[in-house]
Amino acid sequence: MPIELDALHQGDCLAGMRCIDDGTVDLAFADPPFNIGYDYDVYDDRRHGDDYLDWCRDWTREVVRVLKSTGTFWLAIGDEFAAELKVMLTREHGLTCRNWVVWYYTFGVNCKAKFSRSHAHLFYFVKDGKTFTFNDGAIRVPSARQLVYGDSRANPQGRLPDDTWILRPQDLTDGFHPDEDTWYFPRVCGTFKERAGWHGCQMPEQLLGRIIKSTSNEGDLVFDPFGGSGTTLTVAKKLKRRFLGFELSEEYAARINKRLAAARPGDPLDGAAEPLVSAPSTADGVRLDEKGDRQRAAARRRLKKQPQLPGL
Ligand SMILES: C[S@@+](CC[C@H](N)C(=O)[O-])C[C@H]1O[C@@H](n2cnc3c(N)ncnc32)[C@H](O)[C@@H]1O
Repeated sequence: MPIELDALHQGDCLAGMRCIDDGTVDLAFADPPFNIGYDYDVYDDRRHGDDYLDWCRDWTREVVRVLKSTGTFWLAIGDEFAAELKVMLTREHGLTCRNWVVWYYTFGVNCKAKFSRSHAHLFYFVKDGKTFTFNDGAIRVPSARQLVYGDSRANPQGRLPDDTWILRPQDLTDGFHPDEDTWYFPRVCGTFKERAGWHGCQMPEQLLGRIIKSTSNEGDLVFDPFGGSGTTLTVAKKLKRRFLGFELSEEYAARINKRLAAARPGDPLDGAAEPLVSAPSTADGVRLDEKGDRQRAAARRRLKKQPQLPGL
């Protein structure tokens, strides 16, 4: 391959991808500008809709070309172009869509005269609908059967997450309470410890963690054409994957390189660790404890509240 791997290259991804051989990338993740007038330092995010779609057609065609025949492509996109890009990727470029994941986040953009935006779309495409990597064991979460109903039929490995992904800000490391019950990925807001502090579109490491763990293996090549703050490449490095990316802005590229230099293979991902529970808490739910015994929530609470009697 005529391009250096385990590196972020500053420059236009369309030109850069022409230096990547056909069929070399295991997993591509792209979070392009959404064409919603966002202020990047060099990219102009206010293009005519047709120009934007033509540009997307060009760079997605290159992504598909550099993917291995067993490769996976995740696309993050907003409401404005989600439908057109899904049709483009499947009908024109021939990919198979395995999931249309909705990422629900809190701390979205407040709207005055319509409902506030609190989601983005994550399309999970594969090149070959029959042969692809999917490591379900790497991303399972505890099931309601395990956590609430104390059901002995529960799979001890848990269950696969839903296709709506959620994790609340209060579930970040600093504010995380093991009793909480729903898994949200927050947008990485300015006040969060995880925020690198210089890129408004920074994605949470845990979100990329789920994508990279489930749809690639250690040693695989992970590619991101739109580096941004460098989340994809940083998580790929921490998870012991090879990585390669582009970023148009010189300033962002320099900062990505600093972030990459600080990350080591095997480092923990920022943000809340894997969800402890995925089921709704109920007033009187039943959990299986470590030995598989049924523990009733209300009884546990009553026991906790009772003053300890001498001799008991
Ligand atoms: C939405 S942001 C990516 C955010 C990233 N996922 C993260 O977690 O930080 C999109 C990025 O694409 C970059 N960009 C825009 N056009 C580009 C191009 N032609 N080639 C490479 N990067 C480009 C922008 O400068 C911006 O940093």
